[in-house]
Amino acid sequence: MSTPTQTQPTTAELRQALPLVTVRGLDVAYGDQPVLSGVNLDLRPGEMVALLGASGSGKSTLMKSLTGFAPITGGSVRVVGYDVTNLLRGELQKLRSDVGQVFQQFNLIPRMSVLTNVLTGALHAAGPVNLAGGFSGKHRKLAMHYLDRVGIAHKAKDPARSLSGGQQQRVAIARALMQQPRVILADEPVASLDPKLADSVLELLRGIATEDGIPVLVSLHVLPLALAHSDRIVGLRHGEMLVSAPTARLDAAKLAGLYSQEGANHDDDGA
Ligand SMILES: Nc1ncnc2c1ncn2[C@@H]1O[C@H](COP(=O)(O)OP(=O)(O)OP(=O)(O)O)[C@@H](O)[C@H]1O
Ligand SMILES: [Mg+2]
Repeated sequence: MSTPTQTQPTTAELRQALPLVTVRGLDVAYGDQPVLSGVNLDLRPGEMVALLGASGSGKSTLMKSLTGFAPITGGSVRVVGYDVTNLLRGELQKLRSDVGQVFQQFNLIPRMSVLTNVLTGALHAAGPVNLAGGFSGKHRKLAMHYLDRVGIAHKAKDPARSLSGGQQQRVAIARALMQQPRVILADEPVASLDPKLADSVLELLRGIATEDGIPVLVSLHVLPLALAHSDRIVGLRHGEMLVSAPTARLDAAKLAGLYSQEGANHDDDGA
């Protein structure tokens, strides 16, 4: 096709696009202990969705369900075309390479350079390689591109352990981008950072969502951060979805219900 002036879709157009993640009526249980009940979730290209809920409400479990790491007992989970509850042989690895992940503790290799840490994101595609020098020039160029994207290309040669927490999380984000993910899951990515760094890391993730069209699901413990940095909020309480709405339309009372002691039906604490 020769379309010399191909225009990028606008964010509004991307938001209306088909969801890359569709979860319907998801149930998860560890043994006879239900952890998620009837959870629904859509993630569309271009959007940043904040996942809220008290400790133990099931945020990490919901994220794990998307990559086949949680014991799903009911409902359907579709992620970038894969039926997670019914994966075919070989699909699990492909699914996981299509989903970039960012964690609270960064999970970098501390003594290795920033560049090498980012390069490890390409391992699914590159196959087994020698970390000391086995990556192609093409991969190195791409890794530098992503380091530039997250604003720390000048640190490429430094050992990861010498960077600040905020910088290390940027490296982890560049590593996730190196996977060329279709979706990014960030489980409390700013819980170890001070408020200013938290803002800047969340802005970076939101920029990736809007500019690159990669939806980001981010779990957060701090409500104002979710209000400031998300397009939609999904709130869990005792494994049930209490809130799911555009951030701009959410009222404070509904969100407070996520953290109050009473108010929602639940029967999972064995009391
Ligand atoms: N591997 C496991 N085996 C048994 N129970 C588990 C397991 N993982 C999680 N759970 C239980 O599932 C529930 C939800 O846990 P989850 O880690 O998803 O909560 P969370 O919302 O991410 O909490 P936090 O904010 O503390 O990270 C908790 O009651 C937890 O004890
Ligand atoms: Mg968690």
